[in-house]
Amino acid sequence: MKGTCDFFASHEERARQKEQRTGFALKYSSLLKELPPIVVLRKEYDRVIRLIAQERTEPNALEKLEQILKSLSPWRKGPFELFGIRIDSEWQSFYKWERIAPFLPNLEGRLVLDIGCGNGYYLFRLLEKKPAYLIGVDPSLLYYAQFQVVNFYAKEVISFWPLSWEELEGLRVADVVLCMGLLYHEENPFALLRKIHSLLKNKGVAIIESLTLDIKGPFCLFPGKSYCNVGGVYHIPSPEALYEWLKKTGFSRIEKTSHTPLTMEEQRPTIWAKAKPLSDFLVANGQTKEGYPPPWRTVFFAYK
Ligand SMILES: C[S@@+](CC[C@H](N)C(=O)[O-])C[C@H]1O[C@@H](n2cnc3c(N)ncnc32)[C@H](O)[C@@H]1O
Repeated sequence: MKGTCDFFASHEERARQKEQRTGFALKYSSLLKELPPIVVLRKEYDRVIRLIAQERTEPNALEKLEQILKSLSPWRKGPFELFGIRIDSEWQSFYKWERIAPFLPNLEGRLVLDIGCGNGYYLFRLLEKKPAYLIGVDPSLLYYAQFQVVNFYAKEVISFWPLSWEELEGLRVADVVLCMGLLYHEENPFALLRKIHSLLKNKGVAIIESLTLDIKGPFCLFPGKSYCNVGGVYHIPSPEALYEWLKKTGFSRIEKTSHTPLTMEEQRPTIWAKAKPLSDFLVANGQTKEGYPPPWRTVFFAYK
């Protein structure tokens, strides 16, 4: 328990310092002051994270809210619906959730950490599993602001630390660590996997979701400038290569729970996140425009 308290206290402090250092605290507090007060009647955390108002909301208030939400674009993860305002995000994040949810262990009373949590879509989905502590970590101040606005109304007990995984310090503190969509952006994937392993309690589980290739054997692609027009992609492992990375990091039981092609239903541009559609980067022979094999997504549950 002392470990959990120290972990919390020290990272809450780091998060506060980061807010001050970056000027976020000031910007954010003025943003919150502008949000129209709307009383929530019901919250539905299903495919859409939806908040329903107690009474008919004044059109002026909705207009103001929509303007603030739009100013926080792009909304990559979602969808959300706040009092009838539908935020149609680039990613239909429920597809990923539905690939991991059936395999989640009992989370009641557990400490759950989502590293690279984006705007916190999965944190809201995780609430139904009743963890004792729910923490999201993401250094993007834009995604942090998106989370803060949604949670200004939802008022959930969720800790969101605008930190990067390198700033996390703790040994055997978490029961479950989610790390989805982050590994391939990391220069040193082993360092990230080792950090996750050290944060986990014995018998804890890491949920590692990554872009992968649908190829046999423990191979890895190191793309050039971009992959499917996305920059900052350092490596794309095959599922077998990712399995080897997890084994070498020290995980004892490693289960591949899903391996699926990335589809244009899951990721597509919207008015809330303007981007070029995936179809623009895949050519007729099924390869990416850069001449690489097409994108797949794989989930591993790796137990310490
Ligand atoms: C592709 S998104 C994945 C978001 C979400 N986990 C999902 O699966 O939909 C990668 C996220 O990792 C975050 N990120 C980037 N560098 C990070 C770091 N060093 N530590 C933690 N998160 C990081 C980004 O801000 C972004 O929100």
